[in-house]
Amino acid sequence: MTQLTWLVTGCSSGFGEAFVQRILARGDRAIATARGDVARLVSLEDVGAAILSLDVTASQAGINAKVEEAIAIYGGIDVLVNSAGYIEAGIAEEVTNEHFIAQLNTNTFGALNVTRALLPHFREKKSGVIVWTGSLGGIAGEVGGAAYCASKFALEGIAESLKLETEAFGVRSHLFQIGHFRTKLLNSNNFKAVPRSVDVYKDINDMIFDFLGQADNNQPGDPDKAVNIMIDIVKKEGVAEGKTEPLRLPLGKDALATLRNKYTKYLDLVNEWEDVITSTDYDVPDVKASTTVQGHEATVL
Ligand SMILES: NC(=O)c1ccc[n+]([C@@H]2O[C@H](COP(=O)([O-])OP(=O)(O)OC[C@H]3O[C@@H](n4cnc5c(N)ncnc54)[C@H](OP(=O)(O)O)[C@@H]3O)[C@@H](O)[C@H]2O)c1
Repeated sequence: MTQLTWLVTGCSSGFGEAFVQRILARGDRAIATARGDVARLVSLEDVGAAILSLDVTASQAGINAKVEEAIAIYGGIDVLVNSAGYIEAGIAEEVTNEHFIAQLNTNTFGALNVTRALLPHFREKKSGVIVWTGSLGGIAGEVGGAAYCASKFALEGIAESLKLETEAFGVRSHLFQIGHFRTKLLNSNNFKAVPRSVDVYKDINDMIFDFLGQADNNQPGDPDKAVNIMIDIVKKEGVAEGKTEPLRLPLGKDALATLRNKYTKYLDLVNEWEDVITSTDYDVPDVKASTTVQGHEATVL
């Protein structure tokens, strides 16, 4: 297969860093980015990555300029990996509006804005792949996860709509619903949390922060294994050979169990309620106009 050039966000640790290492090991080219000082990426530069400073919360104009810089390095980009992200942990009532918006600014709008900056390039060359790091938290909500889950649920809608809008231009999209993997995501220096403010949530908060403490560095998932699978899917090789190309795919036993549990129960519930759910149309069945442009009737998996 031809050598691909990848642009990866959030490479100072975790999935971003693992992506760059695996991309290079497989003979492709990688542009590794991180916010702040690019000296943080020197270990990736040493193994062959081009490096660039990119804060995904910069203005659209700032991101556009960085993406132009990135495109100029090798004369084009084939794959964007939106990996930058963090967890804002806390009870929905306690997470301030400012913290909630900051969470979406990084995890959702950061990824969308970098994608928006790259799409004209992808459309012009009629090819490109966008990788979205979704989450188990984008399949089901969890206690203490309102802001993070909102940021990942939003990605689901963006990725699915954008796929429908851009596939005619040769743009492919993949959203990986990642389970618990051993990165720095749960390090106490990395996740954010607002000070507790409502006494009644004390026990739940204690449970959340106990969980975060215990889960850090004990996650079952190996990021290198997940990254190899994601690269296979982008490159349509290895485990992807002979399989249907997925828009979204859970990664990890925990992500699959969450998905199965939720959708099985959800289908059971809507089947039980079907007569009520379907009782809302006007009695005269004369409405012919479709209420969707494209998508709801198409199955995008
Ligand atoms: N690990 C998991 O279990 C898991 C599960 C589901 C989804 N994910 C998703 O996977 C992605 C990567 O997380 P990870 O697990 O690899 O955790 P990680 O080791 O903490 O890496 C997160 C990376 O994002 C970067 N980042 C944060 N804000 C940024 C910004 N404004 N601009 C640029 N970079 C920024 C961090 O850089 P700094 O060093 O500058 O903070 C860091 O390099 C995230 O989107 C996360 O939600 C992870």
